[in-house]
Amino acid sequence: MKRVVFNQKGGVGKSTITCNLAAISAANGARTLVVDLDPQGNSSRYLLGDGVDSLEHTATGFFDQMLNFKLRPLPTEDFITATPFENLSVLPADGALEELQAKLESRYKIYKLKEALDALDYDEIWIDTPPALHFYTRSALIAADSCLIPFDCDEFARRALYTLLDNVAEIRADHNGDLEVEGIVVNQFQPRANLPQQVVAELREEGLPVLNTLISASVKIKESHQQAKPMIHLDRSHKLSQEFATLHAELQASQKARAKAEARKRA
Ligand SMILES: Nc1ncnc2c1ncn2[C@@H]1O[C@H](COP(=O)(O)OP(=O)(O)O)[C@@H](O)[C@H]1O
Ligand SMILES: [Mg+2]
Repeated sequence: MKRVVFNQKGGVGKSTITCNLAAISAANGARTLVVDLDPQGNSSRYLLGDGVDSLEHTATGFFDQMLNFKLRPLPTEDFITATPFENLSVLPADGALEELQAKLESRYKIYKLKEALDALDYDEIWIDTPPALHFYTRSALIAADSCLIPFDCDEFARRALYTLLDNVAEIRADHNGDLEVEGIVVNQFQPRANLPQQVVAELREEGLPVLNTLISASVKIKESHQQAKPMIHLDRSHKLSQEFATLHAELQASQKARAKAEARKRA
């Protein structure tokens, strides 16, 4: 199962959600990979801490190989690093990804990520994307089975949702018929404020696929980033850890239901 976490808006919680859901997947015993495609490398630093500064291989080398043809390219596994957390690995990003982008785009390498990830042996792959719809994001949307959209209840983010869903639909139509929108993840939810509640209710009324589990706002997230420990490893009993676990279970359950329905259709 390959999931991409995508929103063209920055600061909505893409990296936070990617890493925390991946950490739960890994803690549940699934072999899990985070693919960080944002040159800012926030997910990489979140999972590797200062170890991110001394990496020999990153996603930059992985993509660079596509531009400089080699008879014997390094296998994708060589660019992947184990995190301190059991079952959890990362294909880390670094700033140099930024410079490669235009070249990769002009040389039509858009399907290469999909080919590489399809050849890997992981139970769950979580792809974090930069806040833009360019080469890396499109590659991720082509490679993924499903797409999660973090949403922070902000009015500008709400307006951007419609364009964003159109963009995903276009990628599905042109490149990846399998891509489904698994849902909108409401993040930084403040249950005591009226406006967020109203926004979420309106999105549901409009028929947008808002997931049941809402992720609360909590300053504990800053500590989690600073200590480079996903919530489940920082404080397993914290409200946010439980919300991430519930969200992960919700995704797994709907995935199972969908797979069953498809099997029935085929039978
Ligand atoms: N549930 C949350 N509660 C409080 N702060 C959050 C939460 N989720 C994310 N943040 C904060 O919001 C900022 C952006 O989060 P991040 O995951 O980096 O977003 P993105 O990857 O979309 O840019 C970070 O400073 C992070 O600490
Ligand atoms: Mg990010």
